[in-house]
Formats: sequence, C-alpha cells, structure tokens
Amino acid sequence: MYRIIQTETLAPTISKLVIEAPLVARKRKAGNFVIVRATPTGERIPLTIVDSDPEEGTIVIIVQAIGKTTHIISGLRAGDHFEDVVGPLGEPTPVSDFGTVVCIGGGVGVAVIYPIAKALKAAGNRVISIIGSRTRDLVILEDEMAAVSDELLVTTDDGSYGTKGFVTDALQKIIDGQGNPDAVYAIGPLPMMRAVANVTRGPEIRTWVSLNPIMMDGTGMCGACRVTVGDELKFACVDGPEFDAHLVNFDELIARNRTYSDPEKESFEAWKNSTETTDCRHQ
Ligand SMILES: Cc1cc2nc3c(=O)[nH]c(=O)nc-3n(C[C@H](O)[C@H](O)[C@H](O)COP(=O)(O)OP(=O)(O)OC[C@H]3O[C@@H](n4cnc5c(N)ncnc54)[C@H](O)[C@@H]3O)c2cc1C
Ligand code: FES
Repeated sequence: MYRIIQTETLAPTISKLVIEAPLVARKRKAGNFVIVRATPTGERIPLTIVDSDPEEGTIVIIVQAIGKTTHIISGLRAGDHFEDVVGPLGEPTPVSDFGTVVCIGGGVGVAVIYPIAKALKAAGNRVISIIGSRTRDLVILEDEMAAVSDELLVTTDDGSYGTKGFVTDALQKIIDGQGNPDAVYAIGPLPMMRAVANVTRGPEIRTWVSLNPIMMDGTGMCGACRVTVGDELKFACVDGPEFDAHLVNFDELIARNRTYSDPEKESFEAWKNSTETTDCRHQ
C-alpha cells in the first residue's frame, strides 16, 4: 500500500499527488516512470515520476484525467492509498552538458519535461523552455519551469495567455533568432512531438521525445509498448521511453494508440454511470 500524503488541483483536469514510496524515491532519475494500480482490481497505468524527496521517501506524480483510471486517481485525496506503485521504470534521460538545450512541454507533457529540464540545468546547460497548452486554464508548472530555465516561453493555442500559437512556432523563432540549439527535448501529444521532429530534422538538431504507447507490465515481457524506431523494434518501457525523434515512426504509434479507443470510451462511460466506488478510499 502506498499512502497519498498530499494532493493539489493544478488545472481543471490535472492533479498533483505526493505519494509515500521510499524505495522508488531513493532510486529514481529524471525520465523514469512508475506503473501504478489505484485499486486491487484496477488497471495498471504508467505515470512519470515528476519529482522525489529521498529523505521524506515521497514521489510526485501529475495526472491528467482523460479516462476511467486517470479519473479515479484524480479523485484520490490525502490519506487514500495506491494498491501498487512499481518503479522506477524505463531508461533515465540521457543528460550531459550539451550547451544550449530547448525543453518543450505540451499539455500534461509539461509535468514530464520538468524533471528533465531540472536535470539538464543541474548538468550546466543553458535551458530555454517552451510550455504550451490549449488555453490559459491548462497552463501548469509555470513557476517550477521558470525556476529551472534561463528563459521560459509560454504559448496557448487560443492566445488567452503567453504568445498565441503552437510550441513549434516558438521553437522556430528561437532557431531563427538565436541559431540552432545543441539539443531539443520535446514531450506532449504525439502530433506535437512529430511536429517538433519535423522542425528540427532539416537543421539536424538532435532531438529526443518521450513516447507514450499503451503499457501493461513495464518489464519488456508483454510487447504492448512496441514502437518502431529507425526500422528497429523497440519496447518503450525498457528501451525508452525516450528516443531519437528523427527515427520514430509516429504514424504507426498514433494508429496503434487508437486501437482500444472504443472499449476505452465504453469503459469510461460504464464507470461514470455505475455506482462503483474506489475501494482505496478510507472514508
Ligand atoms: C511512460 C509514460 C509516462 C506517462 N506519464 C504520464 C504522466 O505523467 N501524466 C499523465 O497524465 N499521463 C501520463 N501517461 C499517459 C497515461 O498513462 C494515460 O493517460 C493513462 O494510462 C490513461 O488511462 P485511462 O484509463 O484514464 O484512460 P483510457 O480511456 O483507458 O485511455 C485514454 C488514452 O490513454 C492511453 N492509455 C490507456 N491505457 C494506457 C496504458 N496502460 N498505458 C499507456 N497509455 C495508456 C491511450 O493512449 C488511450 O487512448 C504516460 C504514459 C506513458 C507510456
Ligand atoms: S509494457 Fe510490456 S513490454 Fe513494455
């Protein structure tokens, strides 16, 4: 059992949870994730370890409620608990002193890029961050990203905050105004990561993305998370989740991630309409 110490709503659909998980907190590195199960009969889903406190034995996760399990997790409160928290999983982010690095987060991807930007800054890089969301309400971790960045740009699709436009517009402006950065890390929806790869491919800027295929066991055994990278088959849970953006077959991954969209919708609707309770709640 993994006790929840604290929760906070960051945006209408996005929640932060601090969870007691001492072994994970001690070992995790930037880029690692956990696979959690909220209830004894619940599904296992992957979530990035956003931060940790090895002394307190806690980790931070940030979750966007998009389907059944993420809604259940978003409804948990301090004192509730997770049935399982397995990790740290995945290969840590390749971090070294590249020079100037642009870190791009889109939507809840900002939660995933934050530990990477923090690690890159600590390694001595000049970090320029771009965080983008559809609208002002969905902007998260602005202060935290500013604290680990030399420069922070915020974009919203509707122009309600920061600069109107996509993160790729801001990236292109940086390239045009300041020259090519030494590396780019981009994490967000798959079409966003594909668009960033298309911007950096021509000028040959090394670019990493964090892939989010369906995951089940997280140990390289089930094959659910297979992705094609440079014509090679990779398992995102053990070989990734970060890969060279210019080698990723995004079209294949987008199509694979849609495989279960009908059953996922049915499962969410059935859960919403049921009286099912989250049996990890104490009250
Ligand atoms: C390495 C990794 C790190 C992630 N980190 C975060 C994070 O920090 N915060 C966050 O909000 N989300 C994160 N995700 C995505 C998160 O796992 C999915 O949003 C979640 O599984 C959706 O489950 P659901 O039941 O609520 O939604 P569903 O309605 O079941 O699914 C909605 C969509 O979520 C994805 N999904 C569903 N089940 C899984 C699964 N078992 N594994 C992977 N994706 C799935 C699919 O694309 C699906 O179309 C991460 C995914 C990966 C692979
Ligand atoms: S999640 Fe099963 S092999 Fe990666």
